[in-house]
Amino acid sequence: MAINDYLIDLKIPPADPSAIGHNRFPNGEVSSDVRPVTPAEGEHGLYWCLDTLMHKNPAGMDASKTQGSHYHRRGYETFFVDSGSLWLFINGQKVFCKQGDIVHFQPGQSQGFFFLEDVKWRGTYHDFEVYPDYKDVMKLKRLMPELADDPALAGLAPLGMMDSNPMEPFLTEEAPVESCSAVKNLARPHAKYEFPGCTMNVMVERWENGGTKELECAVLEPGFTAEWVRYPEIKELFYVRSGKVKFKIYNEEFTADSECVVVAPKFAPRSIEALEHTELYELGGQAWWSLFLQNYASIKKYDPARLTPETLAALKKKFHVQIEKIGMK
Ligand SMILES: [Fe+2]
Repeated sequence: MAINDYLIDLKIPPADPSAIGHNRFPNGEVSSDVRPVTPAEGEHGLYWCLDTLMHKNPAGMDASKTQGSHYHRRGYETFFVDSGSLWLFINGQKVFCKQGDIVHFQPGQSQGFFFLEDVKWRGTYHDFEVYPDYKDVMKLKRLMPELADDPALAGLAPLGMMDSNPMEPFLTEEAPVESCSAVKNLARPHAKYEFPGCTMNVMVERWENGGTKELECAVLEPGFTAEWVRYPEIKELFYVRSGKVKFKIYNEEFTADSECVVVAPKFAPRSIEALEHTELYELGGQAWWSLFLQNYASIKKYDPARLTPETLAALKKKFHVQIEKIGMK
């Protein structure tokens, strides 16, 4: 639920229950509750975020078979597994995922799921083709449930909400989760860079997103502060997965704790102070953190004399890093 113009607390259900859409298993039971958090923007449909609760698969379903197996032609998806556990079926593998994992799908990757418990499944998406008729069909189904099973009604939105294309159930072999490149975890980041009070973890690389965006996790210690440049040119969408952070956006100060989304509009002056050990992600992914950090670490190791404020400023500019300074309170 939106607390103010910049803070959405996913722990609090929306005041209007009709803001939540539902999907169903073949047996009619509800399979998921879907709530829009922030809309897609621009040619790549960035900043799109949905908060979905995937329901436990009903008893009697065959756990060796994928449920809802599908692929996307153009769209990318990144999901935070924020509770429970599931079997993930992907590219011939069947792997066990649980709370704390992040699942990243690229176009053309087959995917299917079997939810062993209810799973908080927070997703960000980009480059999706969206079919608006689907929303109208879902509204009709909700308000006139007696028509929910009418094939003629389903035929009005044959492609569903997104570029989601069904597959036959996959033939898979169980594999360790660590061997599956689609499953990320803070325990095994692509790269990790230490600063006083903050560790930057590269979780999903730009090259895993068709060059469009990337995902890092800043692990912050209490007292860590960061101040952005005066007029940041990039809009940011933060996700506090755990912990507690004081934000200042424009002149508004507020605290975001676990499972909170924070919107920082373009040009809005912003700063943070970590109040607890915190996992902070930025979902827009427009700053080129991974390459910035590689270059920064390289200069620091091989040519430290060159690491002047001017070099650092040029490096930040080149990779669209908007942080002016960091420190400890
Ligand atoms: Fe998908």
